[in-house]
Amino acid sequence: PLPQPFAVPLPVPALAKPSSPGHYDLVEQAAEVEILPGLRTPIWGYGGQFPGPTIEARSGETTVVRLSNGLTQPTVLHLHGGHTPPESDGYPTDLVQPGARRDYTFPLRQRAATLWYHDHRMDYTGPQVWRGLAGFFLVRDPAEEALGLPAGERDIPLMICDRSFAEDGSMPYPGLPGKPGVREAYMGGVLGDVILVNGAPWPQLRVARARYRLRLLNASNARTYELALSSGGPMVRIASDGGLLAAPIAAKQVRLAPAERAEVIVDFGAYRIGDQIELRNLAGEGPQAKVMRFVVDRDEADDSTIPRVLSEVARLDPSKAAVTRDFDFNSGTMHGGGGWLINGNPFDPKRIEARPKLGDIEIWRLTSDVAHPVHLHLAQFQVLSVNGERPAGPPEWKDTVELRDAQTVEIITRFTGYRGRYVVHCHNLEHEDMAMMATFEVV
Ligand code: C2O
Ligand code: CU
Repeated sequence: PLPQPFAVPLPVPALAKPSSPGHYDLVEQAAEVEILPGLRTPIWGYGGQFPGPTIEARSGETTVVRLSNGLTQPTVLHLHGGHTPPESDGYPTDLVQPGARRDYTFPLRQRAATLWYHDHRMDYTGPQVWRGLAGFFLVRDPAEEALGLPAGERDIPLMICDRSFAEDGSMPYPGLPGKPGVREAYMGGVLGDVILVNGAPWPQLRVARARYRLRLLNASNARTYELALSSGGPMVRIASDGGLLAAPIAAKQVRLAPAERAEVIVDFGAYRIGDQIELRNLAGEGPQAKVMRFVVDRDEADDSTIPRVLSEVARLDPSKAAVTRDFDFNSGTMHGGGGWLINGNPFDPKRIEARPKLGDIEIWRLTSDVAHPVHLHLAQFQVLSVNGERPAGPPEWKDTVELRDAQTVEIITRFTGYRGRYVVHCHNLEHEDMAMMATFEVV
C-alpha cells in the first residue's frame, strides 16, 4: 500500500558546509534513510543524504567540489546547467572509481540560477540517480539579490521525483543484472508510483500568509509533470533553467519535463489561515496526480516584492548563426537490441557529432519520434521555434527543452568560454543510458 499523502513535513536539504571558502567535500555513500514512515530505505547519497546537501555558490566565484567515491561502482559528477570547463563537466566516461576522489572546478561565469548536480556515469545514470545521487546547486548574484524577491525561509528548493518501493522499503530499479539498460517493459523510462518532494512522500509545508519563492526541479528519471495549485490560483513564474526571466509571468500551470526547472512565486497572503492548498500534477492520475500540500497557518510581515522587470534577456539573432545542424532523436537498434539514438547513432565517446567554433552562434534543429527532454551541456540556449512557430513571450535561457511526440524544435545558442568535448542528450535517464547521447567538441 502507498503511504498516506500529506502525513510528513517537507524536508529542506541542509546547506553544504565549505571545507574552506569555495571548497566543498562531497562523499558518495551508501546509507539507510527513512522515506516511508517506519521503513528503512537503502540509498546512495552525496553525504549519505537524498537529496544531497544544497551547495550555495556565487556567480563569478570559483567553486571546487572534491568528490570522494565511497560506493562500490564508478561515478561521475555533473553540474547540470553549469558553464563548466570540459575536464570538470562530468563527461560520462571520466569515471571516479570506488575509493578514488576528484576535484571538479566550477568557475561559475554565469548568472544566478537554480542548478543541480547529479551522477552522470555512462550507461548507469538512471539507476545511480534513482538510488539518490542528486542535489541542488544554487548560484546567486547581486543583481538578483537586489530585486527584493522572497528570501531566506521563504526561498525553498523543491526537488520533485517519483520512486517505487518494495514492501521492505527498498527502491528496486528494473535494471538488467550486470549490464546497462532496463527490462523491455521499461524502455520508455522508469516511473515510480510515489511522488517525493525533497525525498519525502507527498509532504506538507506550513506557510505564513506571505510570498514564497519555490524553486521547482523535476529530478525524475522519466516522468513529466504539469503542476497546478488546487485553488486554481496563480503561480508567478520568475525564472527558468538559466535564471531570471525578463519579466514575471502569472501561470495557472507549469509544465516540467525531466531536468527542467521553473521558479515561481506563490503569494499565500491571498489565502486565509487554515486554507490547505495542494500542489497537483495534472499530467498524473490518482496518487500520481498529487505532489505536496501547503497549509496556511499564520500571519507574518512580508516586505518582499515581485518587480515588473526582473532581468535583461537579450534575444539571440538567428541571422547571426554560423550554421544550422540537425539532431534527430529516434528509437532504433543497437547491439542487436532496442535503443535510443541520435542521428541514427548510439552514444560512442569516439564519435564527434558536431564541432562548433568557440564564440559562434548556432541553430540546432531537434526532431523527435516520441517525447524526449533534450539537454545541452555547456551552453544555455533559447527556443527559436516549435513546429515552425515562434514561442509566445520574450526569450528565456534554457538548458533542457522538451520535445513532444513528432516535434521539431529549433534552439539557438552561442558557444562561449571553453573548448573541448561536451555532450547533448535525452534527459529521460533510461533513454540516456540506452545511448541517446552525442558528443560535440567546441573548437
Ligand atoms: Cu542533467 Cu547531462 O545531465
Ligand atoms: Cu528520450
